[in-house]
Amino acid sequence: MRFRILFLILSLGALASAFARQNTPKTPTLAKAFERDFLIGAALGGQTLLGEDAISAPVLGHFNAFTAENAMKPDATQPQEGVFRFEQADKLVEIARKQNATVVGHTLIWHSQTPRWFFEGPDNKPATRELALQRMRTRIATLVGRYKGRIAQWDVVNEAISDGGDDMLRQSPWRTAIGDDYIAEAFRAAHAADPKATLIYNDYSIENPGKREKTLKLLKSLRDQNVPVHAVGIQGHWGLDYPDLATIESALTDFGKLGLKVMITELDVSVLPTRYRGADVGVRQERDAAMDPYVAGLPEAVARQQAERYRAIFALLRRHRDVVDRVTFWGVHDGQSWKNNFPIRGRTDYPLLFDRQGKPKPAFFELNALPAAARQQPAANTQ
Ligand code: XIL
Repeated sequence: MRFRILFLILSLGALASAFARQNTPKTPTLAKAFERDFLIGAALGGQTLLGEDAISAPVLGHFNAFTAENAMKPDATQPQEGVFRFEQADKLVEIARKQNATVVGHTLIWHSQTPRWFFEGPDNKPATRELALQRMRTRIATLVGRYKGRIAQWDVVNEAISDGGDDMLRQSPWRTAIGDDYIAEAFRAAHAADPKATLIYNDYSIENPGKREKTLKLLKSLRDQNVPVHAVGIQGHWGLDYPDLATIESALTDFGKLGLKVMITELDVSVLPTRYRGADVGVRQERDAAMDPYVAGLPEAVARQQAERYRAIFALLRRHRDVVDRVTFWGVHDGQSWKNNFPIRGRTDYPLLFDRQGKPKPAFFELNALPAAARQQPAANTQ
């Protein structure tokens, strides 16, 4: 009995000191550390929303913005015409409400994870422009309307710009069905459904010069037509050595000059070798052992390299905090990151701030300390 009491006292003591450590000013939450700079977000997967993710749950307090990794996409919310499913989406909104976090809706109009019925007309013919437009407007009015006042930011159109070639726009089924103005129409519909929501154009690799020019052109033309677009989302599926900081910086400057806010919407820093630097979900590459070097664990030196890379990225983003409003990680811990399966299936990647046990990695501590250190030494080199 006496041992049990002693054990109880010791356990309570350990708990209390763990709690104190979490809450000392030296390790504030990430959201707190960056509160003067921008929101710090995370995408939550289905398991987390269903309450089946014991690894992420204890660290969700580090974030003050949440995006659904899949739960608000067209296939999750509208499996068939006339059928809407919001169970998981509602859970995300509820998790965010409990900790007073901003909710980001992802995504209204995209070429991927979108059921075919959106584009099919009667008699197996392709849907007419009118039918596709009507379906688009129904989707947008229903989702944005349902969460009006609760979802503050929407990724309205996702990945509309083409990667290569002279064509500006990707041949999305939405473009085929409606025409190039599907983008403008989507933003108008979202604005009509919630005039206070921040509306985002979201895409990958748009920090790189070629794709950036196309994006700037699209955004300028939308602005000239008075289309309500408020921000550009740079996804940020990056690696240890790409893109370079100068590229990111000039993109922030260029988008800022247009009067748009920038959100880094899907940040992760892969540590694995890659032949593909984009994030087109349609791309698949073959796995071989050389492409999957850290199956047994992340070497300390690589974890340090990643921490340094994260630090450099965030130091840059902080210097542009007048333009950058939010930085969202695409996942919470390494074990559930989509990068384990992209662009090669079945690898072991380590792109996030928390490891497979939910423990903070060197990159976490580097970022956590960055704002305070930079403020104490404003003249020091923070790059
Ligand atoms: C990814 C999810 O993380 C995966 O779970 C899913 O299988 C495919 O989509 N760009 C986007 C995100 O805008 O929605 C994608 O998310 C990653 C690339």
